Amino acid sequence: MPKPLPIIIDTDPGQDDAVAILLALASPELEVLGITAVAGNVALALTEINARKICELAGRPDIKVYSGAIRPMVRNLVTAENVHGKTGLDGPVLPEPTMKLQARHGVDFLIETLMSRDAGTVTLCALGPLTNIGLALVREPRIASRIAQIVAMGGGFFEGGNVTPAAEFNIYVDPHAARLVFEAGIPITLIPLDCTHQALTTAARIEKFRALPNRAGPATAAMLDFYERFDVQKYGTDGGPLHDPCVIAWLLKPDLFKGRHVNVAIECQSELTMGMTVIDWWRVTDRAPNATVLRDIDAQGFFDLLAERLARLP
Ligand code: RIB
Ligand code: CA
Repeated sequence: MPKPLPIIIDTDPGQDDAVAILLALASPELEVLGITAVAGNVALALTEINARKICELAGRPDIKVYSGAIRPMVRNLVTAENVHGKTGLDGPVLPEPTMKLQARHGVDFLIETLMSRDAGTVTLCALGPLTNIGLALVREPRIASRIAQIVAMGGGFFEGGNVTPAAEFNIYVDPHAARLVFEAGIPITLIPLDCTHQALTTAARIEKFRALPNRAGPATAAMLDFYERFDVQKYGTDGGPLHDPCVIAWLLKPDLFKGRHVNVAIECQSELTMGMTVIDWWRVTDRAPNATVLRDIDAQGFFDLLAERLARLP
């Protein structure tokens, strides 16, 4: 087997973040160098605890979890307890973590790791607002040329937004950080709502997780039972979109996805369209392509991969 791909997961758990972390920890193709928590779905004090809870659910108290930015770079924090519950991980009852939070700030961990490891070897998996990565770029601009790639869940175009008609939550919460990231010249793969809205947690798919003979499967099913109710009611679909695990799935099985290399610009001026990802899908501007935007997913293949990997966990 080739050497595992070194990744850092930047995240605001969040049930869908949690499933992404479980998928990563169940996959030997990946080496999780660390997890950096960011404020987003819920406050930072909860996202860092949730990240540690999930590591322990996966039987991985060795994973280094760092606390990062407590609020966006410019705007006030907007959270999503209405979707994720007041803990951010409502659904299963998970024990308080016993593993320790790392003392270093998450932004410092990002910079130190990227500056000390060989350039072009570390992949950043961005599952929440891009505040930590934006701050790291401001603090140490040299990391831009050292990041192998950023794979981010965020944005939307043909599908519109999910927190305003124009904007998806991760980008909306910190549009200034997103703009910094998309203008830094870093190789980016973006997985927007146009893709993740095809990955629905149908009853059959959740039951497959619930039937797994371990802790992780039923816990995942309990998380998704709670998490999907908001989107099922909102969209009237058979299940809710499982956003963040698509980031990890793309690293594991890119053939499950299709997309194209286009320009993505971030609205940071207008309150009406704040945080909109203006995706030049038809290449009608002269703005240089800066991201591979994924629009299609083999949803059943994605859930089959998830079930197969979750089965490997304790
Ligand atoms: O819009 C969906 C994204 O916002 C997901 O990452 C979800 O966890 C929330 O952070
Ligand atoms: Ca998230």
